[in-house]
Formats: sequence, C-alpha cells, structure tokens
Amino acid sequence: MDFKAAIARLLEAQGIADVTLEVPPDSKLGDYAFPCFPLAKERKMAPQAIAQELAAKIATDPAADFLERVAATGPYVNFFIKQTALVAAAFEEPEYQPNGKRVVIEHSSPNIAKPFGIGHLRSTVIGGALKRVYEYAGWEVVGINHLGDWGTQFGKLIAAYKRWPTDITEDPIKKLLELYVRFHAEAEKDPTLDDAGREEFRKLEAGDPENVALWKQFRELSLQEFDRIYARLHVSFESTAGEAFYNDKMIPVLDELKAKGLTEEDEGALIVRLEDMGIQTPAIVLKSDGATIYATRDLAAAIYRKKEYNFDRMLYEVGSEQTLHFRQLFAMLKKMGHEWAEDCQHIAHGLYRFDTGKMSTRKGQVIFIEDVLQQAVERSLKTIDQKNPDLLEKEMVAEQVGIGAVIFFDLRSDRLKDIVFDWDEMLDFEGETGPYVQYTHARLCSILRKSGLEPKANPELLMTPEEIALARQLLAFPDTIEQVIKNDKPHILARHLLDLSQLVNSFYQKHRIIQDDKDLERARLALIEKTAARIELGLSLLGIMAPQEM
Ligand code: ARG
Repeated sequence: MDFKAAIARLLEAQGIADVTLEVPPDSKLGDYAFPCFPLAKERKMAPQAIAQELAAKIATDPAADFLERVAATGPYVNFFIKQTALVAAAFEEPEYQPNGKRVVIEHSSPNIAKPFGIGHLRSTVIGGALKRVYEYAGWEVVGINHLGDWGTQFGKLIAAYKRWPTDITEDPIKKLLELYVRFHAEAEKDPTLDDAGREEFRKLEAGDPENVALWKQFRELSLQEFDRIYARLHVSFESTAGEAFYNDKMIPVLDELKAKGLTEEDEGALIVRLEDMGIQTPAIVLKSDGATIYATRDLAAAIYRKKEYNFDRMLYEVGSEQTLHFRQLFAMLKKMGHEWAEDCQHIAHGLYRFDTGKMSTRKGQVIFIEDVLQQAVERSLKTIDQKNPDLLEKEMVAEQVGIGAVIFFDLRSDRLKDIVFDWDEMLDFEGETGPYVQYTHARLCSILRKSGLEPKANPELLMTPEEIALARQLLAFPDTIEQVIKNDKPHILARHLLDLSQLVNSFYQKHRIIQDDKDLERARLALIEKTAARIELGLSLLGIMAPQEM
C-alpha cells in the first residue's frame, strides 16, 4: 500500500489541498510528518494548534486504520504506521506506468582519435545510470552520444598522417594520439605545419574525398575501441550523431540568429552578446576565418533534437568545466525564442584527482580507461582467489566485480564533487563499495540456497527492530528513485543500496535465519529474498551486475 498517498487522502478529507509530506529525520518521530506552518495564515491559527486539531480529527477517521497513532509534535502532525502494515508493504514491488514523458540524455561524448578520458568515463556511467532510472520510472529515454568527431584537430591529424605515414589498424587511438602529439611538438619548431593543418581541415570541410575517407577511417577505428568500453560498462545509445552530423544544419541556425538581430561582428568573428541574460562573456558562433565551432554545432544539435524527439527534458551530462558553454547555449536558445530552453539542463560532474604513484597505468598525462578497467578486474580476481578459490566461473565474476567497483566508486559520491582515485578504497569488500554491496547480495543468495525452504512473507512474525528497520529501508525505495530523478543524482541510489546492505547485514548477524521454527525461517527468508532482489535491481539501475556467488 502507498502510505504517502493514503495519508494525503486523510489530510485532504480535512480540507487540505496539495499535501506535501516529509520523512522525519528519526523514525521515533513517526514515518511521515505534515508541517502545518503553511496553513497558519489561511486558518488564522497557530501551527501548533492546527497540528493538534488535525491529529485529533484524523485519529477518528476509519480510513486511518493502517496507522498505529497520529500525534501532534509542535507544528507537525506525525504519522506512525502500524508495524505489520509497514512490513507487509515492504514486500510489495513498486510499479511504474509509462508516464508519457520523454527525456533526452546526452552522455559520454568522447572525442574521436583521442583517448577516452576519465571525464568521459564519468559522463558515461552517470548518464547511463540516469538513463536506466528514468526508464524504470516510466519515462521514455533517448540516449545520445554526442561524439566529438569534427573540428580543426582533424586537419592537424590528417596533415600529420600524410607527413608520417603510420599503420593505425592496431591500437588506433594510441597511434593517432602519437601522431597528434608529434604534430604539436614539431609545429613549435615549424610553424608551416599549422598552416598545413588548417588547409587539410578546409579540404575536409569542402568534401575532399581523400580527407573524408581518412576522417571516416579515424572515426570508425575510434568507435570500435569505444564500443569495447561501452560493452564492458553495459551502456548503449539510441543515437551516436556526433558533431559532424550537424555540419549541414548550422547555416539555417546562423541565419536565424542574424535575422533575429542577435549577432554582432567582433574582430571578424560573429558573436552573440548575452549580458542581458546575466552572462558577461559573449558566445562566439563563427570564427574570424568563417569556421563554425563547438558552440554552433551545439545550437544546431539542440534545435534538431527538439524537432526530432520533442523532448520534455534534455540533459547534458558533461564536466563542470563546460558550465559557461552550456549557460551560453541555453541563453542563446532562449533569446532565439525557444521557450523549451528551460527544459534543458547541464548535468555537471567534478574531476577525478590522482595521487601520483597509486596509478601505475599512467602514461604521460593520459589515463587509458581500458587499463583502469583491466586492472580493476585483475585485482578483483586476486581477492576472489583468496576468499573463494573454488568459485566456478571466476573470470566472469571478477569482470562483474572489477567493473562494478569502478562504476560504484564513481556513482557513490555526489557527481558535483571531485573524486580522489584510490584502488584500495574502490575494491574493498568491506567499505562503501560496489564489491561490498555485491558481496552482501551474494551472501543473501547463499542463505537462500542453504535453507532450501520456500520463503513465505508473514509480516506478523517480523517484528524485531532489525526487521522493521530493514522493511523501512525497502519501503524507501520509491522515494529514492524520485529523488534521483528530481536531482539527477544517481549517488542517492548508491547510498540507499549501501544503507540497505548494512541493514540486512546487521539483521542476519543478530538473528538466526535457518532454525527449528520453520515458519519463522520462511518469513525471514522472504525478507532476505526481497532484499536480495532489491539490491540486484538497484545495482542493475546503476549498470552493475549482481553475481549469485563471489
Ligand atoms: N566532446 C566533448 C568533450 O570531450 C563533450 C561534448 C559535450 N556535449 C555537448 N553537447 N557539447 O569535451
């Protein structure tokens, strides 16, 4: 039963519209609380008096039979749900219907011919988690990988490739990076290289067949590498229309900007001033050499996506260093008269910081994500070898645990915060980690196997404080999902799973599950089974597998 809705109905019966309930910080204060201050003015009464009156009236409402009691505490009406009702409800699974709303979630968006950066890893997993949570909650989701596949750097790369022919079929990204680095090093000594780069890009933009073929090859080979990473992270996209896709869609947008009188010439470049929108830095939409840039492509992309997908919301999961760019983008859209700019949001994330020395895979300034993933898996395999040497399919489990550890390590903290990369902390089976949650799940599975009895939910038998606390946490799941969506922050779910794991661990450490009282055993197994299923669901929403044994 949906207690929140039931309580809202009780309050509505007392003439209160638009009920918002709070969850008290301590369950001693009840399961839900209704603050009465907002009513004081209209009812011309002190909030304390309103709370008293409401509590007394609701207590006599026959529809309040699921409540243990209703009490006024200061300006709040506190609602205490009967423990049996609470435990019974914990066994219900939330059900979401399609809500008819569509969200576009742009995430990952690495740059081709460049290594998949750690920032792109963040965007990939945070965006991936948001995608799954929205989907779970009934939204229709379109995931877009806005590949960085256009820009002057491709001119440089082509110039370098022509100058120093290289076989790039094997390890293409490392080879292309080497070319790129060499180009920059040599361009310092020989400035004609930069001109050559610009010329190659001009030819590419003009559709020169040789250059277009090279660009296509770079893109294809890069994508193959990226796809390997996506497969391991369980991420896929509805669209990989990258920046190049908008090449033929920018002229109309520029024309629209000009026609609406929003552009200005500035030292040969075309800019849009945004002071009136509270942004001091103007946005450049056309460079002095007439080339379009990143921002121009983003304008075209937003407008195209609104037409194509008619979204209710559009999220851009991109590092916080691009905050200004997105503020400018949304402000330009608004000035153009696109009211839906309000539905667009930059979902920013902080940086990874590395304590030097801990990261043995550091190569120059670049961290290769595949090396990180591989090392996480190898380290997990070592732990499994120690803890459970006879485990079948060890390699598969190590993959699930290692990758899960990397993902969870990212998702467990507020995305806006920076993260200090730490192998030991990431892979600890006992810390606030993915392996800890997975390990809890595997233990629950093992209890269920060991007992072999059919679980049977029987709320009357589950009345210890640990069982009630666990039931409360199970019941908090829909609120957690709601909060994740409201804030676009998957760490709220990761934290919820850590708490759930901790509660179920204290439950079975304190209480015997397998025992002589078979009715009690089956009731407790039902709680174990429900919790295991919930952990599995929660992890899967984060993009993490839940092995049955580890
Ligand atoms: N490729 C860009 C980068 O690596 C990120 C793209 C973000 N998305 C966007 N629509 N601008 O910095």
